[in-house]
Amino acid sequence: MNVQLLIPAAGAGRRMGAETPKALLALGGVPMLIRTLECFQTIGLLEEAVITAPHDRLDLFNDVLQQFFTHSAFRIVEGGAERQDSVSNGLSALEPATEIVIIHDAARPFVSADSIQASIDAARDCGAATVAIPVVDTILQGDENAYLVSTPDRRQLWACQTPQTFRVDVIRRAHTLAQKEGYTGTDDASLVRRMGEPVKLVMGTPLNFKVTTPSDYALAEMILEKGGPECVSA
Ligand code: C5P
Repeated sequence: MNVQLLIPAAGAGRRMGAETPKALLALGGVPMLIRTLECFQTIGLLEEAVITAPHDRLDLFNDVLQQFFTHSAFRIVEGGAERQDSVSNGLSALEPATEIVIIHDAARPFVSADSIQASIDAARDCGAATVAIPVVDTILQGDENAYLVSTPDRRQLWACQTPQTFRVDVIRRAHTLAQKEGYTGTDDASLVRRMGEPVKLVMGTPLNFKVTTPSDYALAEMILEKGGPECVSA
């Protein structure tokens, strides 16, 4: 089956408090987006990857990609206001022959090859898959005044990660329905589940965290100083 990579990278990174788009922040001297793409390069998924970028930074993203991957071709697409809009734009830019799309946040630079492969296999089997990890903390549901409402059974809770991998027809239908109903989610697998279709949960790793805040960024730098994710057991 033809597999194509889609990287939403159009976030401004406001929670990082930086001027540079988050995806281009240097991690161990290399832009985060490049580190993320390297995880896919090892399994041959770089060619024609679709990357969403902020509308006023398309040229900058193109320059950075050409600098690090001289021989690869990418499709740089304008992102939207929300992550879901960016992914939707990216889905419109897929090769017509693509059957499986892997959607992975630029802000998760330590994804393992095993998780990527497992998500592809699961999407082939059941149409949709997301990488996730069982939660280790007890999760509380609170109300608007910060009073406890309920404590869901931890044994059934997973923390969502990416990649989220889909048969292209499935994720396109899910985005079309969400758009029609004016629903905005924070990930893509939830849109498939809203249609009533199955999504397989595939085991991720704690190191596949999303670099969101300055403390996440400091942790990512420390991991690289120790020699990278394969040298750190989490
Ligand atoms: O905002 P959040 O950290 O959840 O974003 C996850 C990923 O989605 C990041 O890689 C970010 O660049 C991307 N994103 C996007 N378009 C947006 C918002 C986020 O491509 N409008």
